[in-house]
Amino acid sequence: MSRIAVLPPDVQAQIAAGEVIERPASVVKELVENALDAGARSIDVRLSGGGLERIAVRDDGEGMTAADALLAFARHATSKLARAEELAGVTTLGFRGEALPSIAAVARVRVTTRRAGEPGANVVEADAGGARAAGVAGAPPGTSVEVEGLFGATPARRKFLRTPATELAHVVDALTRLAAASPAVGFGLEHDGRQVLALPPVRDERQRLGQLLGRERAGSLVAVEVDRGGLGLRAFLAPPRETVGSARLVWTYVGLGGAYRWTRDRLLLRAVLDGYESLLMHGRYPVAVLFLRFPPGEADVNVHPAKLEVRFRQPAVVHQLVVPALRARLAVALRPEPAAAPEGVRPASYDDGPRDGAGLALEDGAASPAPLALWSAAPGGFASLRFIGQIFEGYLVCEGDGRVVLIDQHAAHERVAFERLREEHARGAVARDPLLVPETIELPAAHAAALAERGEVLAAAGLEGEPFGEGTFLLRTVPRLLRGRDAGTVVRAVARELAEEGASAAAERAADAALATLACHSVVRVGERLDPAEVRALLAAMDRVDVAAHCPHGRPVAVTLERGQVEALFKR
Ligand SMILES: Nc1ncnc2c1ncn2[C@@H]1O[C@H](COP(=O)(O)OP(=O)(O)O)[C@@H](O)[C@H]1O
Ligand SMILES: [Mg+2]
Repeated sequence: MSRIAVLPPDVQAQIAAGEVIERPASVVKELVENALDAGARSIDVRLSGGGLERIAVRDDGEGMTAADALLAFARHATSKLARAEELAGVTTLGFRGEALPSIAAVARVRVTTRRAGEPGANVVEADAGGARAAGVAGAPPGTSVEVEGLFGATPARRKFLRTPATELAHVVDALTRLAAASPAVGFGLEHDGRQVLALPPVRDERQRLGQLLGRERAGSLVAVEVDRGGLGLRAFLAPPRETVGSARLVWTYVGLGGAYRWTRDRLLLRAVLDGYESLLMHGRYPVAVLFLRFPPGEADVNVHPAKLEVRFRQPAVVHQLVVPALRARLAVALRPEPAAAPEGVRPASYDDGPRDGAGLALEDGAASPAPLALWSAAPGGFASLRFIGQIFEGYLVCEGDGRVVLIDQHAAHERVAFERLREEHARGAVARDPLLVPETIELPAAHAAALAERGEVLAAAGLEGEPFGEGTFLLRTVPRLLRGRDAGTVVRAVARELAEEGASAAAERAADAALATLACHSVVRVGERLDPAEVRALLAAMDRVDVAAHCPHGRPVAVTLERGQVEALFKR
């Protein structure tokens, strides 16, 4: 008897579905991509129980006829591609005809769809057993897809899913990435009846990034626009002082002339980091959003089951386009006098090919700043140093052990405060004071969502409160460390940091991010004067914590100059 058997169709379908549909966020991604491909101007996503119970996506796109709605559930049935050659220049987000059958293989699906001009909507129901017409209904033009009981019949997959809060976080991530590339489309996300994201349509990507990243941060983004004969780059870069602890705010999109597709491509990430180069501290990542447009055939989007990766025909050319463009733009942006910065760099032709690294030569002033001399903690301890004075109202000059030590007073205080908070936090004892009148704090929707999802992290850091309507947080306690500081600013900063960490980040990481932000706001600012007693207290406190030369936000705390280095300056 043969030991090999072809799997029954339902098992085949489940295996194929597993490639595309991994969790609720994959369902949302596929359905929203379909809505975008259908020309929707407004897309509304509603979830229950992190999407595990129910996901509903409604759009006002072109809709489907009754026959198409049924055929859409057949594997490899698509309206977006007819011949193999078209794959090279596919301009829609979908093209494989796999999403709807994959979803139906692992959940119960109900599609209600109406084309403009038709009197009513057609309803189709589908599950692992197949798809069937389920009559007509009243509905506005467009399509709505409801998905229930995801992975109900595949307990193995369901076991790998996390809590509803984590699944919701993945959905927010997925929707955010899609929304960034489609500013003219309005998006809404509701979870268990609560509004999580509300993104009305806007004019351009910068405005959309304002909705997603907060207006303040979006305002500081510098734009890059390069066109090399068919290969185009449009990027928004945060200045290098704005960094985060992971690469999750480096968003790279690839398009072949139509819709831009978010991709997690290592080559592109590498190019972005190379573009920022020495402007970033080790382990810190920038905030950067890149849209790359390729001529047909230059990028293959058909290499990954969920189409999250791409392959480039000439990777070196991509690198050589991105790196110098970013460097030149950042160098201009960093010039002390904010000269009217040119919106882009000198264009060159795509056909210059990979040999031509100089095709986009660095503009003047693009040289990276000289590296810091040396920075490390003083070996004899900070308390043993002789304090000489404060300069530039923010730096302490000390001497001892045959070296000069410059200390950034803000960074040092921040590190000390951070370690103290962390220690209190570990004991579950962050000192806090109740607010007599709770403070109402307005936030961008995504940040408010991050706060809501991370309520326990926030409370443990001494910021107790709760969401209060859309984009608002009601704060009831403040950490004692923040006495006298503006709590609203701090909560907004923590919310931003949490949103950036991603609610999918481990709780410990999120707590660290919150504590680092609190520490940063609790301490002396550059510009504040310190008297010698305060300096001595600070130096002593620095010895008690592992300063490791870094403040929690990644900047150095102390810079030392050896005697030999000073002498070398004078050619001795
Ligand atoms: N929201 C929608 N509005 C209009 N048509 C849709 C929608 N969702 C799916 N379709 C149709 O169903 C087909 C199959 O969808 P899908 O399985 O996602 O495959 P693909 O997007 O790769 O074509 C699409 O090609 C499209 O014609
Ligand atoms: Mg699709």
